[in-house]
Amino acid sequence: MRTRRQPSLTLRSTLAFSLVAMLTVAGAGVYLYESMKASLLQRSDHAVLGRLDHFRKLLHYDLTLDKLQSSPQIFENMLDSEDDIFIIAEPGQTPVIMVNPLQAELPPLPVTAEGMRADAASLRTGMAPSGVPLRAATVQTSSGGRAVNLTAAHIMVKEMSLLADFRQRIYLAVALAFLITALLGFVLLRRGLRPLREMAAHAADISPERLESRMRSENTPVELQQLSDAYNAMLDRLADGYLRLTQFSADLAHEIRTPVGSLMGHCQVALRQVRSADEYQALLASNLEELERISRIVESILFLARADETQAVLQRQPLCVHDEMQRVAEYFEGLAEERQIRLLISGDATLSADPLLLRRALSNLVANAIRYADHGSEVLIGVTTAQAHCRIEVENQGPVLSDSALSKLFDRFYRGDASRHQSSDSNGLGLAIVAAIMQLHGAEASVVQPRPGYIRFALSFPMA
Ligand SMILES: Nc1ncnc2c1ncn2[C@@H]1O[C@H](COP(=O)(O)OP(=O)(O)OP(=O)(O)O)[C@@H](O)[C@H]1O
Ligand SMILES: [Mg+2]
Repeated sequence: MRTRRQPSLTLRSTLAFSLVAMLTVAGAGVYLYESMKASLLQRSDHAVLGRLDHFRKLLHYDLTLDKLQSSPQIFENMLDSEDDIFIIAEPGQTPVIMVNPLQAELPPLPVTAEGMRADAASLRTGMAPSGVPLRAATVQTSSGGRAVNLTAAHIMVKEMSLLADFRQRIYLAVALAFLITALLGFVLLRRGLRPLREMAAHAADISPERLESRMRSENTPVELQQLSDAYNAMLDRLADGYLRLTQFSADLAHEIRTPVGSLMGHCQVALRQVRSADEYQALLASNLEELERISRIVESILFLARADETQAVLQRQPLCVHDEMQRVAEYFEGLAEERQIRLLISGDATLSADPLLLRRALSNLVANAIRYADHGSEVLIGVTTAQAHCRIEVENQGPVLSDSALSKLFDRFYRGDASRHQSSDSNGLGLAIVAAIMQLHGAEASVVQPRPGYIRFALSFPMA
């Protein structure tokens, strides 16, 4: 099943940034719009109240109602626009002056009595026929002894169109904020994420032949540094593993090739002419020996490969080391006698280990000691316990080895020059198996030359 593709990080981040920018601009816009609306309303209210105050004084002190009635056009000229309404009337009578060019209907208005100041509370909101709101108030005064009601109103046409215009600008600003942030964010993010793309390109370029190439980290931002470091470290491990694998398979092919070649050679020679039954029997016996050797190599390699893979299941149990050493020595008695070598055993300890594996490690060491010791010398097999460690040692006299040779003894397929020429029985795997067994036990195998001409192998087990 194909997994749904996630939207790109660039797209998601850009959208998020743009939304934030848009919301910020919209918030600022709403705030400014509301402030502007409040101040426009206040100005319009002041104008209405100011006009009422002005005409109240005019009618009270200078202009009588009769004079006004006879020439109303004086008054009409005093108002500046058709958005203003002004009505002068005696209470309950038809108005003396009625300026209402848009025929707006006024809401019921409270009358502010003579001598009282009209303020914002006296104003009422109504609606002009065009749907535009208006603000109106009525005050009373007296002109020549007669009570007069003055009503003034302002239809907020200009204010509303100003606000509508402002709204349009805010919408535009919000849209622009979204677009500009999206565009800039996209460009910047793409630049910022370039190291990631480089990493992907680099990874795509990696192949077994090009495992040594590494990501350069100078231009990597701090956030990606960790990833790039981990990636490089992974390549290091892969390259190392791959190298070992290549080396291992090359060695393996090489090791198997020789015995197989010799097997084929023997058979070809034998087939050239008719042989006697004895000759065939000898050939089969020699072939069997070769095959046994191949089988040993394969078994050893298999063992090492398995030990590498995981912590193989160890069947630990308490062991008497003296008994184990005795057992191995008895097994090699015949071989030792052949080379006139004496096996000397010393010490005792109890150790928790896998008996089969311990025997195998010990056998490999003792077999080596007998094989490589000088003719007629002694092999010391001993165990000591000290500082929470149990140490099994196998020492023999033998060739003097250089430090570099000594450090390679535990490597797979490493064979000393002597053994290489000496016998076809040497595979260079015995000590590698010892090292692997020690690793499985959390223990350590080491080798030293205590004196020139002596070589001592030690297995050091930590005591539980
Ligand atoms: N006790 C020893 N004295 C001297 N040289 C040794 C001793 N043990 C090992 N070596 C050297 O170390 C090499 C590696 O030993 P290792 O046991 O791994 O392989 P091997 O003995 O050659 O073959 P095999 O796989 O049959 O054990 C030997 O070839 C030998 O040169
Ligand atoms: Mg060996």
